[in-house]
Amino acid sequence: MDRFIIEGGHPLHGTIQVSGAKNAILPVMAAALLAPGKSVLSNVPNLIDLKTMAHLLRIIGARVDMVEDKLHIDSTDVCYCEAPYELVSKMRASIYVMGPLLSRLGEARVSFPGGCAIGTRPVDLHLKAIEKLGAEVNIEHGYIHAKAKKLKGAAIHFEKSSVGATINTLMACVTAEGETELLNAAMEPEVDSTIDFLNAMGAKITGKGSTHLVIKGVDELFPVGMEMISDRIEAGTFMIAGAMSSEPLTVANCQPAHLEDVIAKLRSAGCEIITTDTTITVNPPKVIKPVNITTLPYPGFPTDLQAQFMVLMALADGVSIITDTIFPDRFMHVSELNRLQANINLNLNIATVHGVKSLGGAEIMATDLRASAALVLAGIKAEGETIINRIYHIDRGYDKIEEKLNSVGARIVRDSA
Ligand code: UD1
Repeated sequence: MDRFIIEGGHPLHGTIQVSGAKNAILPVMAAALLAPGKSVLSNVPNLIDLKTMAHLLRIIGARVDMVEDKLHIDSTDVCYCEAPYELVSKMRASIYVMGPLLSRLGEARVSFPGGCAIGTRPVDLHLKAIEKLGAEVNIEHGYIHAKAKKLKGAAIHFEKSSVGATINTLMACVTAEGETELLNAAMEPEVDSTIDFLNAMGAKITGKGSTHLVIKGVDELFPVGMEMISDRIEAGTFMIAGAMSSEPLTVANCQPAHLEDVIAKLRSAGCEIITTDTTITVNPPKVIKPVNITTLPYPGFPTDLQAQFMVLMALADGVSIITDTIFPDRFMHVSELNRLQANINLNLNIATVHGVKSLGGAEIMATDLRASAALVLAGIKAEGETIINRIYHIDRGYDKIEEKLNSVGARIVRDSA
């Protein structure tokens, strides 16, 4: 199993490139199932999660080919309605095929996603929404079995803001009979980019960028080509790395408008931040100021950057409070950071971070995707050597992170022994 060996203490500087957004590409790959013919996505990185989704689409009957940074998805022969346990248990986002399969084939059989390293993650909102659209849903032998001859538009009020449930429902209802209204819909940029893709295919969705979406059902959708948005979480991870450096770091090929709250929090921590249309330059402070954060649905602070921001706060001059309201159990990184001599106490979903002068290298273990990125940032900053085991998590969502960070001054070796 691969591990990273990091020689800490080398400052980052220069320009680092951001790839296309995994969480925007996954739903759009599923949306491509809605129309027979070939859709082409560009700005697609080489990530394990995207390969898992490609595998699933092939099982369903699509042809999927990756050529350089372009993903070609031909959905002409889509005929099989099952997402098997082996794939859903590897990647929860497999549930995204449920909406498109219901719409295209009138039936979807998707393995019930289990828990994962960041806690219990139910799918009740997805199921209630498709039931509202007229699907008959049964849970049998560990599978969700949903059936509907023809979905019918409905008004759906999500009890909670959910990226996945909003996107799945959108993909189910674009070809439903009549009008669907989604209230308290999620507003994440990944939802917007799915709406752009669906509208380009011929869907009629209005209200993008708000919590109130209106969808007029259409009879037919067509394959399209689209360039994928850049990954705001990868960009935010690099911005935080820059905030911990002693020299300026420019994060390129990103969309600063998607990171306003993160930029604000980094400014509160003492960073000077300069943005252009596609770059963010972070000038780190001499002394990092403590800043409290609470994760919230977009445009609030993203839960996917909570662990990375905690590393910055571990080195702040004072005490900060970090609260995760989206995934209350997402704190597996705390004990690993404490092994690197951080001083963090956890009480339920609230971490109290007592800043320390420096971190010290040690052998640690990556627990989930974003926590792994946080541990890499900590290793870059820690004195001496840090060994991070089980880094396969990071390859799910970051394309060659060690090569990118090494190109701006880090010293990370991937040990594949
Ligand atoms: C997506 C992202 C993930 C990110 C999360 C929150 C992808 C592939 N993953 O996950 O990286 O951390 O958004 O920004 O895009 N919930 C329910 N019932 C449901 C669905 C969700 O109670 O049926 C709860 C969740 O437990 C959580 C909250 O709603 O507390 C938000 O989760 P959601 O936005 O659905 O996250 P995902 O779409 O799974």
